Formats: sequence, structure tokens, C-alpha cells
Amino acid sequence: MSITYKDEDGIRGMRIAGRLAGELLDYLTPHVQAGVTTNAIDKLAYDYITEVQRAVPAPLNYQPAGYTPYPKSICTSINHQVCHGIPNDKPLRKGDIVNIDVTVIKDGWHGDSSRMFIVGDGSIAAKRLCAMTYDAMWHGIVLVRPGARLGDIGWAIQKFAESNGFSVVREFCGHGIGKVFHEEPQVLHYGRPGTLEELKPGMTFTIEPMINLGRREIKELGDGWTIVTKDHSLSAQWEHTVLVTETGYEVLTLSAGSPAPPAFVNERAHA
Ligand code: MF3
Ligand code: CO
Ligand code: CO
Repeated sequence: MSITYKDEDGIRGMRIAGRLAGELLDYLTPHVQAGVTTNAIDKLAYDYITEVQRAVPAPLNYQPAGYTPYPKSICTSINHQVCHGIPNDKPLRKGDIVNIDVTVIKDGWHGDSSRMFIVGDGSIAAKRLCAMTYDAMWHGIVLVRPGARLGDIGWAIQKFAESNGFSVVREFCGHGIGKVFHEEPQVLHYGRPGTLEELKPGMTFTIEPMINLGRREIKELGDGWTIVTKDHSLSAQWEHTVLVTETGYEVLTLSAGSPAPPAFVNERAHA
């Protein structure tokens, strides 16, 4: 497989799928509360995607080579879980940090986005990690334009995260996305400026840095999916799907409830 460049029709489809992913996160937000189980949130997501959005939850039964089929409609990764946490019957507790990662398929096109949620009052360290990881994602997004390289994006994210004392997970990355959930290119969240693929109009990919409070090393749990930090330090992640336009970028997974971009993002430059 190679990079796919979306034409006008593909861009229209990706805009719709992206907006649905954002709106699904908006819909789930008030339910992320102490005492609620991640299975309950998963069921809300399944029902909303299938009955209201008339779309398909991409994770359900998703099976990359070497994996067992993913059993749920969303990923819920709590505290030291880095990504791919599987919803279960454990209630959320005050102080938990939760990543909810959703991917919907609408008319064959995929929209992929995730946000962090803090249950009740988080610790200062937890709040700082979640806020800084959000900014790290946007430090990558603002560089997206024709002629930029993927290494520029990875470098910006890594530099920001590490200069603030955090570490960047290396084993998982952003990805091209379209009719296929995970397509080329890989979008690393570390790297060197001026290296790797040159961005061209019509590319659509995710930027989804996983940032740890402690060391960057991870391990996989026995369920075959859940990734956790080896040192059990907290981990955060945010994700948007973006389009490379003629002049810059368009974030496809924005919705009414998306948090505002950080102050350093000049929104008019890309309007
Ligand atoms: N949504 C995740 C991503 O950002 C992928 C989850 S795969 C799953 O790429 F099977 F665990 F859902
Ligand atoms: Co995702
Ligand atoms: Co993704």
C-alpha cells in the first residue's frame, strides 16, 4: 500500500467522517464521570454511532496482522495505560485520567480522534500532562502544509515534550487514513527536521502523540491490546485527523465541543 491523495470527493467524505468522530466525543463527554464504567461509555458510543450517525465503529472486530479482533467500539486508556485500553466493568474513579479514542466509518471514509478527560479533580501533574500533550499535538498540526516533511512534525512534538520533562512513546504513531483505517504514511511523534515524506495537498493523516510523565518505555498486557508504561507513570494522548490543503492544513475532526486550540495557533492563517 502507498499514500493516497484525496480528491474533492474524498475530501468531502473525510470531512463528514471527521466531524462525526468529533461529535461522538462531544456526545460522550458528559458521561465521563466517577462511577461510570468504560463498558457503559462503549455502549453509548456504539448506539450513537449506529443509530444516530448511521455509521460504523471502526475498532469493533478490527484485526491488524498478529492481533486478535478488537472486542469493543472505542478505546479507553486510563492513567498509566498508553493506548488501546479495552472498555470493561470497572467504574471510573475521581482523579483518573482517561483517553477516549474513537474512529467512525461513514460512507467508507474514516474519522479518527481522541481526547483526554480528567475525572473529578486531577492532580497538578495529571492536569499538566494532559494540557501539555494537547499542546504537543498542536505543535505538530501547525506545521502541516505542502512542502513540509513528516520529520518536521515529529521533531516539533518531541522537542516540546522533552523540553518540558516528558517522554514520547516511540512504538505507536499517527497514520495515513482514508478508505483504510491505518494506511501510509506513518506519522512519528519524534524525529529530525527536513527528513521523511514531503507533505502534499490531499494527504490525510492523524497526529496522535502519546506522552509519558516518566520514561518512554512501554509494554503490552496479556489481553493482546492494552499498552501501558513500563514504569507505571501516567500517559496522555490527543488525536486529530488533518488534511493537507494547498496552503496549510484543515483539522477534520473538529466539532462544537472540541477544546479551543492553544494560543500559539494562528487560526486565521489557515481559515
Ligand atoms: N484509534 C486508534 C488509532 O488512533 C486505533 C485503535 S485500533 C483498535 O489509530 F482496534 F484498538 F481500536
Ligand atoms: Co484513534
Ligand atoms: Co489514529
